[in-house]
Amino acid sequence: MPKPEPNGFVRTLNNMGYMTSGLDPYSQAFVDFAPGAPGPCLDVGAAYGVASLNALSNGAKVIANDIDERHLEILRARALERLRERLTLMPGSFPDGITFAPGTLGAVLVCRVMHFFDGPTIERAAAKVMSWLAPGGKVFVVGETPFIGTAKAFFPTYEARVKAGDLWPGIVENVAAHDPGRAGNLPSRMHLLDEATLKRVFSGAGFTIEKLGTFARPEFPPDIQLDGRESVGLIARK
Ligand SMILES: C[S@@+](CC[C@H](N)C(=O)[O-])C[C@H]1O[C@@H](n2cnc3c(N)ncnc32)[C@H](O)[C@@H]1O
Repeated sequence: MPKPEPNGFVRTLNNMGYMTSGLDPYSQAFVDFAPGAPGPCLDVGAAYGVASLNALSNGAKVIANDIDERHLEILRARALERLRERLTLMPGSFPDGITFAPGTLGAVLVCRVMHFFDGPTIERAAAKVMSWLAPGGKVFVVGETPFIGTAKAFFPTYEARVKAGDLWPGIVENVAAHDPGRAGNLPSRMHLLDEATLKRVFSGAGFTIEKLGTFARPEFPPDIQLDGRESVGLIARK
């Protein structure tokens, strides 16, 4: 695994951002729910396992997914030997490149991965998770919002799109123009998420929303922090 930066962030091997070193409140809720969930728990874009390893230690059966198999090999190597029998690695691209029988998963975490999706892919993701979950299963979603310091130049575009009723107001078409410092470690397009978008997509897919809100990221680098709404999270039940 690459050496963590001073704030604990660890670079991905495929330039898809960083893995955090700690659990945000929504990932923690996934870790808490996972051992009693009505089926194995899927961690989408697990990277080196910040959530998967905690869920495993907590007693859950974990399916760790990532588009980059190298991340998953590192994750497995980091797992205690005695916990590995409850760990399944599933490389592949969510939501279209992996599949599960309907009604078989207990929980799904999608933490800081939907930034890489366009709107229709986010809708397909919600619909597939709805199908894969068992009744009573839950989905946990976390994403960065347009309320981050590095998106200040994009903010007027976001506000104008919200006013105009744009369904996907948070799509940043040219990341390099807004965040030249970090563009090298990010794809050229990013989809920043907000409460209204997550609410529309997940209630539209048939979920009952249990918790939805923005939250602060005091652990993020100072230039990304803004006003305490840097991330958005959702917990929803089938
Ligand atoms: C920004 S990191 C987030 C890692 C971790 N979930 C966290 O919250 O710190 C994004 C991770 O998602 C993976 N990823 C990106 N697109 C994906 C996709 N379509 N399916 C599965 N994994 C994906 C990347 O390889 C990377 O490991």
